[in-house]
This record gives sequence, C-alpha cells and structure tokens, in this order.
Amino acid sequence: VELQDLNTLHVGSVARYYFEARDAEGLQSALEWASGKGVRVLILGGGSNLVFDGNFEGLVIRICIRARYWQDLCDSEATLVLGAGENWHDAVLYAAGAGYRGIENLALIPGTAGAAPVQNIGAYGVELCDTLVSVSALDRRSGAMVELTNDDCRFAYRDSLFKEVPGRYVITDIRLRLSRTKPLQLGYKDLEEYLGDKANPECQVMDVVEAVMAIRRRKLPDPATLPNAGSFFKNPVVDASEYDRLRALFPGIVGYPQSQGVKLAAAWLIDQSGWKGFRNARVGVHNRQALVLINHSNGTGADILALAAEIRASVKAKFGVELEMEPGVVS
Ligand code: EPU
Repeated sequence: VELQDLNTLHVGSVARYYFEARDAEGLQSALEWASGKGVRVLILGGGSNLVFDGNFEGLVIRICIRARYWQDLCDSEATLVLGAGENWHDAVLYAAGAGYRGIENLALIPGTAGAAPVQNIGAYGVELCDTLVSVSALDRRSGAMVELTNDDCRFAYRDSLFKEVPGRYVITDIRLRLSRTKPLQLGYKDLEEYLGDKANPECQVMDVVEAVMAIRRRKLPDPATLPNAGSFFKNPVVDASEYDRLRALFPGIVGYPQSQGVKLAAAWLIDQSGWKGFRNARVGVHNRQALVLINHSNGTGADILALAAEIRASVKAKFGVELEMEPGVVS
C-alpha cells in the first residue's frame, strides 16, 4: 500500500501490509496477526509528525477509531471523550462551538486526537497536558486495555511516556476536562497582538479559535498545498550560563526563561543561519517560518532528512547548540 497520501510531508513509501482499525478489537486482532507472523508494526494517525525514510517492511495500522461525546456534565465543566481517530482540529471546533474552553489555542494543529498526547501538542501558550484527564490505551506488553492518568503520561514539552517507551501503548481514546468559565489564555505574543483591543473579558472562545487560525494561516504552510510536518525541530533548552554566553555573542537571540534554563527559539537560530526560504530541486525551508521544512517537488524522506542534517550542522557550527528533531523517522 502506498503511504504518500497518508503523511503530510507527502513522501512516497510503500507498506508491506496495511490495516485500518475502527475499534479496539480490530486493533487487537491486527496486532495479534502481526506478532503471529513476526511482522513489525507502525501505528499511524494523521501522519503529520513522521518522516518515512524508504519503504516500510511491516504492517501499518491506521487508527480510525471514531467517537465524540460528553461525560460528567455540570454547570461549568464537562469531559470531552474523543476516539483516537478523530481529527484534532474538528474536535477543537466542536468544543469551542459548545462554548467550552481549554483547547482553543490548539486550533488547526494537523493530526488526530490519539496522536496529540504522544508529543503533547502545544501552541500559543497552551499544551494538551493542561486539559487532558486520561487516555485509554492498549498495552502491547500485557495485551490488556489500560487507563493512564495525566500523571501516568509523564508530560513535558513535546514529550510524554509514549515517546519514552515507543510502541508499547496504542492510544484508543482520550478524555479532556473543559470549562465554560476558566480564563482564556491570551498572553502569547502573536495572539495578544492579533487580538489587540479584543483581548478583554468579553472575548469569547470562538474569537480565540478564529485568531489562532488566522495567525497560523499567515505563518504556517497548509500541508495540502505545501507538504510539511509542522515544526521540524524542538525549541532547545539551554542552561542560564550558556544563555548568557550566547546573548553576549548574539544580542538579538530569542529566549524564554523556563523553570530550569532558557528555551531558545529554534526558528530564530535557523533563520540567522541563513536557511529561511532556502530550497533545492525538491525540498526546502518555509519562507515565513524557518522551523518548517517543505517537500516542494517529489522529495523523498531521505531528501528531507539530508536537509535537516545540514541545518543541524550549521546551527551547531554557528551557535554551538544541538537541535533535536521533532517528527519521528520511520525506516
Ligand atoms: N522566528 C524567527 N524566524 C522565523 C520564525 C520565527 O526568527 O522564521 C522567531 C520569532 O520572531 C519569534 C520566535 O522565533 O520570536 C518564535 O517563533 P513562533 O512564535 O513562531 O514560535 P516557535 O517557537 O517557532 C512554537 C511551536 C509551534 C507553535 C508556535 C506557537 C515548537 C517546536 N513549535 O514555534 O508548533 O505553533 O510555537 O505557539 O515548539 C509544531 O509543533 O508543529 C508547531 C507548529
């Protein structure tokens, strides 16, 4: 099965076997089939955070588990349950449409609900872990369904348990605690600037969704027209003394103090290294956000990875900072 239309970088890759899991039982039986045959398994959601490096000699299981309903409704709060195969952005629109707050800043992030906890998606000052209550998952080690709480998931910036023990858990649904009353998060620079006078107590959850969508459309390429996998690198965190060293050499450097160390804007480092808007015959760097790599014309996973390696090397040479890739590589 050709996977080109199943990954947002639109790179070609052929999977030996392919299955669409519509429920936990289907998922379980596909996994049993694969282990019986000794075949490797790749769990695929929206394909928006991975790079296929060549063909995949195993079974791709695409998670198509659909469900969307409310639980534990009270006056001001409710739990939204989403099947892992639900489109994330549609879920954001659904929640905001019902007046519930908590995930509006995460509008327009490509991918599925089930993939969202894996990298703890985040944007405009909000992360998924701020509202996630728990996930249901199939534990491939025991073969049993388990429920993992927010604490169990060990969330951090673009990180979670699911990245620590890759392949062990397959998420089948997620639960988010949303509120009609909690304050909107309007503090992120781009959002504050966009909303201007509208950033006041009258601001509605849908206003935030619309603002985030407009900001993202201005800066980030739509995978349907310019294939990409979002931010290709994480923003690196350096310790305070390293930050002071860098700031002395590069006064314009963009950094955000964290509880430990300072998070640097990888986009700034890449931009300053001269990569923004670069392109070769097949792949390149977005001209409005240097953190996004683009597949312009039939680039392969190897082309993308070669460009990423060049970018890493030049940022390392100029700033002494190591960039870590954000999407996973499948080979
Ligand atoms: N900047 C540049 N050059 C550029 C782009 C940005 O110098 O080409 C500078 C900006 O001036 C700004 C700073 O870099 O001061 C940060 O830029 P931005 O606000 O666009 O955010 P980011 O740190 O580059 C992160 C997330 C995005 C998320 C935005 C908004 C990561 C790896 N990326 O990007 O997430 O949308 O913040 O919250 O943390 C994704 O993960 O796929 C993604 C798009």
